[in-house]
Formats: sequence, structure tokens, C-alpha cells
Amino acid sequence: MAESPSILVLHGPNLNTLGTREPDVYGDVTLDAINAELTSLGQKRGAELEFFQSNHEGSLIDRIQDAASWADAILINPGGLTHTSVSLRDALAATALPVVEVHLSNVFAREPFRHHSYVSGIARGVVTGFGPASYRMGLEALLDLLSA
Ligand code: DQA
Repeated sequence: MAESPSILVLHGPNLNTLGTREPDVYGDVTLDAINAELTSLGQKRGAELEFFQSNHEGSLIDRIQDAASWADAILINPGGLTHTSVSLRDALAATALPVVEVHLSNVFAREPFRHHSYVSGIARGVVTGFGPASYRMGLEALLDLLSA
């Protein structure tokens, strides 16, 4: 493992609208604010973070494939693709990198179609339901894994 681990942080569809999107479900914190908090946590723990958000499945998959050559781990909130995308799961699995899946909302307390995730089965762990803190806990968990 490199002295300074490199983490790809991926945000799936619609997460660019955090702050205004269904605030009763997702809160009022913007994606930029979440990324800023993760950046500062990464700095404290000596990690380099790269962020990418897309509303397009293929663009996310391109980034995942690219990460296989430079990243040590992937932190991902796949958004709605969580519940639909075999291709996203396959791309993550193909990297063989440790993956942590995060969700702002508690997907298990919501509609039944959100109870299944294609990603969870290839993830090292899942953090769901703690708002922006889900990302923080997910990053901490990944960094703990990498330093173990
Ligand atoms: C989400 C939960 C998904 O079900 C939903 O489609 C999202 C956001 C979350 O962070 O709570 O876009 O991943």
C-alpha cells in the first residue's frame, strides 16, 4: 500500500442536486459541502481523494475502469443505480479494489425497490441512513481497512 492512499469517491445520478432535492429525505447539505468534509478528513488521515459525480451510468463505469490503475479503494454512493445496475457492480468487481457503498437515507426504511442493492454483494461494507455522516463513516472505514 502506498504511503498516501488514493481513493476514488463516486456519486451517482441526481446527487448533484443535493441541497434542493427532496430535503426531507436527503437533508440540505450540498454535494460540494460533502466533498469538502471528505477532503479535510482525507488530509487529516493522509489520503488523496478524487471526486466524480455523473448522471450517466457509462461515465461512472469509465471512471471505475480507470481507477483500477491508480486507486487503492472506491467509496461510492451509486444513487438509483444501486437498485438497477448489474454493469456498475461488474465494473466495481472487476477492479478488485475494496469498495464501500454509502447512502444518505436508510434505504431499508424506504420503498421495497430500494431494499435490494446490486453493489452490496461486492462491497466490503455498506453505510446507510446517516446523511452526510454516511460518507464520513464510509471513508473512515475504508482508510482503516487500508491501514490494517
Ligand atoms: C441514495 C438512495 C437511493 O435509493 C436513491 O435512488 C438515491 C440516493 C441515498 O444516498 O440515500 O439517489 O443512494
